[in-house]
Amino acid sequence: MADGAMDALPTREPRPFAGTAPRRAPANRVCSIALVRDLEFDDHDLERICALIYRRAGIVLAAHKRDMVYSRVGRRVRHYHLTRFSDYLAQLEDDPRSGEWEAFTNALTTNLTSFFREEHHFPLLARHVAGRTGPVRVWCAAASTGQEPYSIAMQLVETLGDQADVQVFATDIDTQALEVAMGGVYPMSQVEKLDEKRRKRFFQKGGGQRAGYARVRPELAARVKFQPLNLVAGNWPKLDLFDAVFCRNVMIYFDAETQARILKRFVLHMQPDALLFAGHSENFTYISDQFRLRGQTVYTLR
Ligand SMILES: C[S@@+](CC[C@H](N)C(=O)[O-])C[C@H]1O[C@@H](n2cnc3c(N)ncnc32)[C@H](O)[C@@H]1O
Repeated sequence: MADGAMDALPTREPRPFAGTAPRRAPANRVCSIALVRDLEFDDHDLERICALIYRRAGIVLAAHKRDMVYSRVGRRVRHYHLTRFSDYLAQLEDDPRSGEWEAFTNALTTNLTSFFREEHHFPLLARHVAGRTGPVRVWCAAASTGQEPYSIAMQLVETLGDQADVQVFATDIDTQALEVAMGGVYPMSQVEKLDEKRRKRFFQKGGGQRAGYARVRPELAARVKFQPLNLVAGNWPKLDLFDAVFCRNVMIYFDAETQARILKRFVLHMQPDALLFAGHSENFTYISDQFRLRGQTVYTLR
């Protein structure tokens, strides 16, 4: 579920489930499960949601996420004027092609991110590409609302110059987060954390209705290409061979088996000397024997 600059952008709602008219909640309905809650939600609903999001996105939802699930999926239930999670889930499962699957998935992702998050990775990236004259390609595989891929692009341009052939391929499963990312508009409170030189070089401050926001300059935006990509889907699009892959703070949502499968697939899209950047609490050493640790949460192929 995308946060950040959402206020600045229109939200998109999927069409209702095919063939079903939204059902209105009876005005005097009393919830039989939890008196403080307006929707019927029980353990079976939670189990169904956990199974569905695991199958669709590989995300393992812990049982303690119950309140989060109620709040986020509950918005989807209310969107269709339903009062029971079970009705919503039945409609969802009945129509595997429904656009609602996208909204359901978006609702259950966590998009926390920031510019130059885990800062120690960026000098390593700079050293890795310094002096190159040919194309440099980086894949940011859980791009969220865009702060990470734009940070990568800033670092590459600072290291190799404005004329360098650098491209960041930025993907995520969450289409709502990607809309924010493509808009490239961020609250000043986030942009102000960058040093002044970066702010001036890569951002335009908004005025009038855009006051309080800054937009990524078009020259930087042109370096980043966004596309939806589900890391657990069988059919990834045709991909380049990358000089670096950023896959940070997403593997923590997957089980070991899923992580191993994804790492195996990354190998096919990495240059022999490419770097793989992981999140601060992610450790791939025990998951795959194809990578070796090269620095703090940075891996290279064996
Ligand atoms: C916590 S954010 C991390 C963002 C960024 N990489 C960072 O470290 O700041 C996790 C991101 O992973 C994405 N995600 C979750 N499951 C995914 C999947 N199966 N395929 C692709 N992206 C996924 C979420 O949508 C979310 O934007």
